[in-house]
Amino acid sequence: SRAIIIDTDPGIDDAIALAIATASDALDVRLITTVAGNVSLSKVTANALKLLALFKKEIPVAKGAVRPLLRDAIDASEVHGETGMDGYDFPAPATHLLLEETAVQAMYRELLSADEPMTIVAIGPLTNVAMLLREFPLAKDKIAEIVLMGGAIGRGNAGVLAEFNIFVDPEAADIVFRSGIPLVMAPLDVGWKAIVTPEDSAIIKAMHPVGEMIFSILQRYRGASTKGGATMYDSCAIAYLLAPAMFTTQDVHVAIETTGQYTAGATVVDLNGLSGQSANVKVCVDIDPVQFKHWFIAGLAKCK
Ligand code: BDR
Ligand code: CA
Repeated sequence: SRAIIIDTDPGIDDAIALAIATASDALDVRLITTVAGNVSLSKVTANALKLLALFKKEIPVAKGAVRPLLRDAIDASEVHGETGMDGYDFPAPATHLLLEETAVQAMYRELLSADEPMTIVAIGPLTNVAMLLREFPLAKDKIAEIVLMGGAIGRGNAGVLAEFNIFVDPEAADIVFRSGIPLVMAPLDVGWKAIVTPEDSAIIKAMHPVGEMIFSILQRYRGASTKGGATMYDSCAIAYLLAPAMFTTQDVHVAIETTGQYTAGATVVDLNGLSGQSANVKVCVDIDPVQFKHWFIAGLAKCK
């Protein structure tokens, strides 16, 4: 199975992506690192540890950046609620899984000790990943690929043209996008088609305790109303790892707008090759929603 590190800010859709990833035999989740994003660092870290207690998975967790590289923190508690995972009575956090190391230290140690270059799956702001690349330049050769949920081809959800994860820390995204590491980007445009309807969540609820949890936290998800269901942005990054055929991809140049007057945090996705710059990102430009749905339900069925 494929060894991965997941960098995350749970968060409702993060929680669900973690459920699928940790239940999959095809993935070996070696480390979970947390980053301030949907809610504060202390909340997302507690949430990761609560999820692992519920999943009964022994995966180490390392706490990452408390705020973006240069900017003040912006959260998404209006979407994910006060705790980031409201509405379910979680077991106590599995605090024994929390490492003393920082996210950056733990990522670097995992990368160095792996037999082969590893994949990093980033489903929150890119602060930790950027700090890793700045602090440990040798990490670059140990990373096979970074698969991230972030950015938008069209319109944004945090700025007019900016998606939340990039909007929160554009400078970090800029470092990652210019790193030369193979990147795969699952943007908002595919997340908006990765939908869980109320009928789907009733099916998931009946599966097992993890399904009940997912049903419960989805009741509080406020990012969904306009798309006909709950948008599973972060699961798209996991879906790319496990079932890439559901996506249409295009290798293009993507630049991060860090100074725009109206567009800071925008991903400038050069679909038509106008920039003259060579491709640095494999962008998921489309997704088959039916395939996603089947994959999603089957993936969650593997939880306990
Ligand atoms: C992204 O922002 C967060 O709110 C979600 O967890 C997802 O990672 C979608 O824009
Ligand atoms: Ca997220």
